[in-house]
Amino acid sequence: MEITRIRAGHGDPDVIEELVPQVLAFDTVINRASGLGEDFDPLVEEVRHQLISTSQYRTTLTWIGRVAGTIVARGSAELRLASNTDTAELWCGVHPDHRRRGYGTALLEVMEADLAAAGRTALSSYCEVPESVRTADIRGAHLAAETGVGTLPATLPEVAFLRSRGYGLAQIERCSVAPTATAAELDLDADGDYVIETWRGPVPEERLEHIALLKRRMSTDTPGAEKFGGEESWDGERVRALDAEKKARGEEMATALAILGGEPAGFTQVGHSAARPTVGWQGGTLVLIDHRGHGLGVRLKVANHRSLAQHSSVERVYTWNAAENSWMLEINDRAGFQTWAWVGLWTKNLR
Ligand SMILES: CC(C)(COP(=O)(O)OP(=O)(O)OC[C@H]1O[C@@H](n2cnc3c(N)ncnc32)[C@H](O)[C@@H]1OP(=O)(O)O)[C@@H](O)C(=O)NCCC(=O)NCCS
Repeated sequence: MEITRIRAGHGDPDVIEELVPQVLAFDTVINRASGLGEDFDPLVEEVRHQLISTSQYRTTLTWIGRVAGTIVARGSAELRLASNTDTAELWCGVHPDHRRRGYGTALLEVMEADLAAAGRTALSSYCEVPESVRTADIRGAHLAAETGVGTLPATLPEVAFLRSRGYGLAQIERCSVAPTATAAELDLDADGDYVIETWRGPVPEERLEHIALLKRRMSTDTPGAEKFGGEESWDGERVRALDAEKKARGEEMATALAILGGEPAGFTQVGHSAARPTVGWQGGTLVLIDHRGHGLGVRLKVANHRSLAQHSSVERVYTWNAAENSWMLEINDRAGFQTWAWVGLWTKNLR
């Protein structure tokens, strides 16, 4: 297997343009084999973005493995550049027709060596397992997450693979999906003092610092956050930069923000793109510690779903939550979400 490396924004543009449809086809095969469904098929703009887009805050490395000119394996690593510069979130996949021949191992070894050489020693990875696949093997051997909450079948290829490479199953997330139309039917008690604002698209100027504060807290105030790095440095400027990046990608964020006395109390965001207009992806949701216990989580999500149902084509929203985050799972159940898949979050320290 011949392995080539691409650092986003540093490849020859002609070579990258030729590569985009090949990676798109490869990633589509991987997704179809996973059973996660067509909503998870890669989009051409996402693939291009991974290969060319970089900012002062983050960049992506890609490794392509070919045999006789055909892509048989692909790896990627997300690197943060402003904070947590010893971390990398990586993923690799092997074409279903070429599995169990050592390609995954060979690629991951190269990825880890490259990352270690760049000072990235705190690695994390993930695998996605549809609910139907997990329940089909409910009596087989299961591997428990280090949090003590949740398990994955130990014999699944990706679970066996990551274990064999020395990764530990740090945490499990539940991926669930809700139809946006359900929100209109939900009747919620409102705590009168909080005002919920919704908007779609870039964060309004007067809310930039509020959203930055909430995003900073997101990196510290969610269960298990400390395992995946320290506080993220967010300010209004970075929020604006993220909005510009999304716009360039044809993506839009729908936001619901809770305010009390002019100060932010919590927020939730759903991203969606023109390329797949019926599907929304839950971004961050946080209710600040002082404002918990007022039902704001459900109110924020339901307000955002209503705004999406009214003003966009989004018909369903996918969300991810730590399996031990029982209060958020309950919020999601109340907001109309149902389990779709389980995501294993893995860590390995190269030092
Ligand atoms: C996980 C994946 C990358 C493995 O690729 P691969 O090329 O088949 O892996 P390898 O041949 O290098 O296997 C290495 C070891 O992983 C384990 N393994 C891999 N597939 C397995 C399977 N189907 N059953 C049991 N163990 C398996 C074995 O321990 C294997 O060693 P062995 O063959 O000497 O027994 C591949 O199944 C895949 O692309 N899955 C979908 C993408 C994904 O989930 N990626 C997440 C990991 S980052």
